[in-house]
Amino acid sequence: MAHADIDIPDDIARTLVDPKAYADGRIHQTYDWLRANNRVGRATIDGFDPFWVISRYEDLREISLDNTRFPYGDRPVVVIDQASEAFVRNMTDGKLSMFRSLVQMDPPDHIKYRLLTQAWFMPKNLRTLDARIGEIADKTVAKFRGLGGACDFVSDVALYYPLEVVMEILGVPPRDFDLMLRLTQQNFSPSDPDSIPEGLDPADPAFAAKAARAFATSLDAYFAGISADRRANPRDDIATIIATAEIDGRPIPAEDALGYYAIIATAGHDTTSSSTARAMWALARDPELFARVKADPSLIPALIEEAIRWETPVKTFMRSVAHDLEFAGRPFRAGDWLMLCYASANRDEAVIEDGASFRIDRGKTEHLAFGFGPHVCLGQHLARQEMRALFERMLPTIRSVALDGDTDMSQSVFVNGLKRLPIRFELEAG
Ligand code: HEM
Repeated sequence: MAHADIDIPDDIARTLVDPKAYADGRIHQTYDWLRANNRVGRATIDGFDPFWVISRYEDLREISLDNTRFPYGDRPVVVIDQASEAFVRNMTDGKLSMFRSLVQMDPPDHIKYRLLTQAWFMPKNLRTLDARIGEIADKTVAKFRGLGGACDFVSDVALYYPLEVVMEILGVPPRDFDLMLRLTQQNFSPSDPDSIPEGLDPADPAFAAKAARAFATSLDAYFAGISADRRANPRDDIATIIATAEIDGRPIPAEDALGYYAIIATAGHDTTSSSTARAMWALARDPELFARVKADPSLIPALIEEAIRWETPVKTFMRSVAHDLEFAGRPFRAGDWLMLCYASANRDEAVIEDGASFRIDRGKTEHLAFGFGPHVCLGQHLARQEMRALFERMLPTIRSVALDGDTDMSQSVFVNGLKRLPIRFELEAG
């Protein structure tokens, strides 16, 4: 039965599953409406299982914190249509995916797997990478300086820098960086016209599932070789940790190892490059902001934090409901599906003033772009460290910068950001 006060009007609900709405900004109108009129509404959309939509900051935080009441459960972690879900379950003996990564795990497994690499991603260990990240940042700035005063900042700078950092940490050799970039883009935004996997048709009812299968198959083939190599020749990289990992005294199953490779290989760069590009966009469109940050590099961390909040590259993750309960006055039933809208929470006027504006004077904002609770982003310190290393080196070399044409965003309901950022710039002498 439909309930006018619970159900989200159809035209608004449909934007939540429309990749184009995330590219052209309509999704923010939906979020504004939801926060004001139906903070926990139900979306019932043709071809999709119904799901509850969590749009406010406090609600999203509470749900993220509690993976006992709100586990991933046996539901897809990214919103997917019924035909695609059926296709995947058919192909995998009823499972949700061809592999299992951290973001698909619940207690008690999740923490055991997270602990395999958690220490690696903590600031203490990351400090040992300072010099190497600095070298990659120096190389990136040298490339930028050679671009002749105009470039597409996304394809020329922002895409490759975080890719190189994370691939080095993982242990993927440079000749395979392009392959990893292509696979990540196909995984995060398969329906974007620029990253449709070869041989697939977005009009196919099971397109999302076939794209996921193509991704998993390519990744599996690739990392089988890396795993075998690291077991024979261990090195100081994440691939060695994954290839030799044991839990409860036993090697981890192949599908969990693949899931680990998949999340490190993909989660770490598209997100960081979207945030890096957003920071440059903010500087290029606002000469006053550029002048302030250039004159006072201690503002760089605030610039970075605001770019991550404003963009919120991970737009949604799904959770499920463990047992019948009431939440925000809504009757949740066991197995219900929830969509966490991070970019909406990060503009919630109850917590973040004037959230649509890009402001570096917010002080400490506890935004939710990295999630919250047990699954909070493992790479958040690395992302900040890399971005800081780049901007600290790049800004002193730029005399002026301005937008130089239309920007373009990728089409995805999961991870999206700028895919084109034309800028023109003048360099300082020397
Ligand atoms: C600005 C850049 C980044 C953003 C916005 C971002 C965002 C997120 C979000 C929203 C989650 C889910 C959190 C939750 O469910 O509560 C997540 C999880 C994760 N991220 Fe990031 N991320 C970024 C960079 C990175 C980097 C550089 C890495 C390093 C490889 C990384 C690795 C991971 C991993 C492994 C998880 C899964 C953690 C778990 O489930 O326990 N991320 N990230």
